[in-house]
Amino acid sequence: MLDALGNWKRTHHCGELRATDIGKEVCLMGWVQNYRDHAELLFFDLRDRWGVTQAIVDPKSVSAELYSKARQVRNEWVIAIKGQVERRPEGAVKEERKTGEIEVRVSELKALNTCQVTPFLVADEVKESLISDAANVSEEVRLRYRFLDLRRAEMQQRILKRHRAVSLIRHYFDANGFIEVETPFLTKSTPEGARDFLVPSRLSPGKFYALPQSPQLFKQILMVAGFDRYFQIVRCMRDEDLRADRQPEFTQIDLEMSFVEPEDIYSLIEKMFALVWKGIKGLELPIPFPRMTYDQAVSRYGIDRPDTRFGLELHDLTDLLGKCEYRFFTEAVEKGGVIKGICVKAGAGLSRTDTDKLTHDLKAFGAKGLTAIRLREAGWQGPAVKYYSEAQLNGLRETMPAEPGDLVLMMADQKKVVHQALAELRRMVAEKMNLIPQDRLDFLWVKDFPLLEWNDQDQRFYAMHHPFTAPRDEDIEKLATDPGSVRAKAYDVVLNGVELGGGSIRSHQAPVQSQVFRALGIGEEEAERKFGFLLNALRFGAPPHGGIALGLDRIIMLLLGCESIRDVIAFPKTQTATDLMADAPSEIDPAQLKELHLKLDLDK
Ligand code: AMO
Repeated sequence: MLDALGNWKRTHHCGELRATDIGKEVCLMGWVQNYRDHAELLFFDLRDRWGVTQAIVDPKSVSAELYSKARQVRNEWVIAIKGQVERRPEGAVKEERKTGEIEVRVSELKALNTCQVTPFLVADEVKESLISDAANVSEEVRLRYRFLDLRRAEMQQRILKRHRAVSLIRHYFDANGFIEVETPFLTKSTPEGARDFLVPSRLSPGKFYALPQSPQLFKQILMVAGFDRYFQIVRCMRDEDLRADRQPEFTQIDLEMSFVEPEDIYSLIEKMFALVWKGIKGLELPIPFPRMTYDQAVSRYGIDRPDTRFGLELHDLTDLLGKCEYRFFTEAVEKGGVIKGICVKAGAGLSRTDTDKLTHDLKAFGAKGLTAIRLREAGWQGPAVKYYSEAQLNGLRETMPAEPGDLVLMMADQKKVVHQALAELRRMVAEKMNLIPQDRLDFLWVKDFPLLEWNDQDQRFYAMHHPFTAPRDEDIEKLATDPGSVRAKAYDVVLNGVELGGGSIRSHQAPVQSQVFRALGIGEEEAERKFGFLLNALRFGAPPHGGIALGLDRIIMLLLGCESIRDVIAFPKTQTATDLMADAPSEIDPAQLKELHLKLDLDK
């Protein structure tokens, strides 16, 4: 019953025909959707990635054989039709569809392939009310049948827009003198802070390649080689815990430049974002983006990637309330901690149950407790009010500043704990009280990160960005004496609380790089073993250089208003890093293991 394509050639795609084509003989090919068999007439829509065209088969004008064949066709079959373009009868015109003024009266039809019953409806042309079906299907089913999920108009649009954005970006960098250079996938570990994916080597038994967490070392070497401006749209692999904006393999817009300062990179990247938002959304982004230091971001928002679309800023109350009758507060301050709080405008309406729930939810972020007090016309209210003096309460009113109807939420603990919890609290309260303007785009540069971060558990410093980041010139001396206070020439670009990218100016002089390694507790022998090839290159005339990498998946997610980067990646992995369609990871043949000189040691 199936036909061969033969010498049929498409004359148009399914989104192309207009009233001006009426009368033309056309040949269309695509997938069948919305099949309706009315007693006297047969209708279906033919769909491809460009759109949908309605076809009709009229038993009065085709052979009995063709009519009976057309009646066997079902949704998602692949067919080809020939016929004449006609104007739709009055009343049947579909304004919202580009091809809505016409239909094709079928004179010949080929059934090119059948389709099994699909686990969810593929047709989801906006406004045709079928959209809810795929949305109701679990993501697991969508991922298992990704070929069907990707056939849906919504997913096709996302992937097409991603392609469009990538082409704009490629063209932009090319026009600005950047060249795209591929860097190896089978390489050595690059320390970006995650676990490596490893690949055993058959030819060097017992040795492993690491898949790149980023092209960091290679792009620096390209600067030593004199390429001056490098970029690459590149896949990076990191074995880390996944969440909505993290995948084990993801794509970076990676770049590096010679003879630059951070401001050169900021303005280059701002223009790139402006181009993408203009090209895909038709929006003018105001540039330059605001800049904020790391210290400002953390002290005002508790986090280095603040969502500045709403207020609820953190206020330091340590001096004001450090000496009060509230033991919980005073003890925290005695142990070197801080007291900080946020003022929720008109938040006094949040009930005790609401604040108890916030307190409970914050526990997951390390908060031991949350103190809530409300300002009413009659004064402050709440169980904790009795612990503060009149002067302290007046001071609180001024500092926040608070007015009647407001709710003040406070916490005392070590600075890190307070910041982490209050940053979460800001987000929770903003969501609960609907304070986040959905159409706002708050781009922001966060700069002057600390170079190093102390890890209590391991009792050592780690690089906050990566070990090749340069210290600020005026802080170099402190590397030996007070490493924790050294600031780096490092920056992140943030949009609405999501870190879109990060980069830095690098240590291009070998002695400075060695000093940083020393502060990190990386000995000379270890440095040589791990990054010897970069250190060697730095000794051969490395120019001053710096760069940045942007998370392409995150950019597209926010550009298209999606909730997860899985929605903008054609073949993403699940939360447990599996590919449900291809069934990966999977077991391998014992012969392959043997060839790689590997033995499994699995828990029973
Ligand atoms: P960094 O590690 O900050 O920097 O990564 C840059 C950007 O990549 C994105 N990103 C991710 N996206 C999805 N899933 C992940 N697992 C994931 N991990 C990171 C983020 C992040 O901001 N070599 C340096 C850059 C440089 O210094 O030039 C680097 O890779 O959007």
